[in-house]
Amino acid sequence: MDNFEYRNGQLCCEDVALAGVAEEFGTPTYVYSRDALERAYLAYADALEGHKSLVCYAVKANSNLAVLNVLARLGAGFDIVSVGELERVLRAGGDAAKIVFSGVGKQPHEIQRALEVGIRCFNIESEAELERVNEVAGSEGKVAAISFRVNPDVDAGTHPYISTGLKENKFGIDIDDAVRIYSRAADMDHVDVVGMDCHIGSQLTEVDPFLDALDRVLMLVDKIAEQGIKIKHLDLGGGLGVCYTDEVPPTPQEYIAEVLKKVEGRDLELIFEPGRSIAANAGVMLTRVEFLKCTGEKNFAIIDGAMNDLIRPSLYSAYQEIVPVMLRETGEEQQWDLVGPVCETGDFLGKDRSLNLEAGDLLAVCSAGAYGFVMASNYNSRGRPAEVMIDDNKSYLIRKRESLADLVKGEQLLPKDR
Ligand code: LLP
Repeated sequence: MDNFEYRNGQLCCEDVALAGVAEEFGTPTYVYSRDALERAYLAYADALEGHKSLVCYAVKANSNLAVLNVLARLGAGFDIVSVGELERVLRAGGDAAKIVFSGVGKQPHEIQRALEVGIRCFNIESEAELERVNEVAGSEGKVAAISFRVNPDVDAGTHPYISTGLKENKFGIDIDDAVRIYSRAADMDHVDVVGMDCHIGSQLTEVDPFLDALDRVLMLVDKIAEQGIKIKHLDLGGGLGVCYTDEVPPTPQEYIAEVLKKVEGRDLELIFEPGRSIAANAGVMLTRVEFLKCTGEKNFAIIDGAMNDLIRPSLYSAYQEIVPVMLRETGEEQQWDLVGPVCETGDFLGKDRSLNLEAGDLLAVCSAGAYGFVMASNYNSRGRPAEVMIDDNKSYLIRKRESLADLVKGEQLLPKDR
């Protein structure tokens, strides 16, 4: 993990000891390193230097306003999937002209708002959506810049829930039908065909599936050019994996170098939509051991963080490292299942982990900066965790822990006479 290391037996983020963060803000709490976020973004931006390009951070990975703001200050673009994400980007100081709008189910009011603020491009995923965007833009007296997400039918070799580029997935238009749909769009009055996009899945640890998809997409760009439709930008989506345990995914530099080779000589701006590879290893979730419970079968460490706070282990059987915040000099490691207080057998953050534990210990769940807080829920009426950003030797609360008042906000009893 970037910017998280032990100093004198204490886990620190940048120049801040995480035990102090837990003391000040309680647990469970997400902690992000500003520097790690910035460096991860700049790895993309630097690798693309000299080529027309835009790095649109996928807001869904971590949409905290402070996170978006840190990236906006570096000139990042943003990939959004809802009007909620759009408003977040604007509040965080993001530039509307650098926003691409993905997602299979854009609603008319979302399209309207995106047109109003002047986003860069709508990434369209079906013919029905094309008709809707054309119609809404028409009623607003505007022309919407569009790209089609093509489904190149390649296997990303990742978890089935986060694999999106196969014909059986709900995403994108069939690559074999794309020429017809592009021609249809070119004849419409309120859309301007500017791009082509694809996103084949997430947590890819090899470059080959990306390159296979790129080959197919480039063939399509050429076919479409034969119809007189010129694609100005190619958006290759997100998907680059990160190291959770021992994976060795390509770096953004390696991946982009391969892409640049393939597009050499073409007049194509490149857009990328990385989410996980920017945020995952910039964050941890701090949690405290409440009780140790050893049955004949298993050792359970009951922690105060649960599946509602971080659902990836329960939902995808995802493995995230769990490490002590303070290294212990005495005692021995044992095998522990780290389980939360939620009433579900599937409520665990880690299984069979070798740790030297005592009740009251603080733990850090690693690589939790992406798809962590954003997927948290209030299940079991648990308030969502606090979020903290570390900047050098300072920690800033960037989202308060949810209170009981937050939990019941908007709820109402039936009238007394009913
Ligand atoms: N662009 C599009 C159109 C996407 O659907 C996604 C992610 C991204 C970009 C960003 O992909 P990334 O660079 O983060 O891989 N909740 C799951 C991941 C779901 C990814 C959904 N789409 C997880 O926790 O593993």
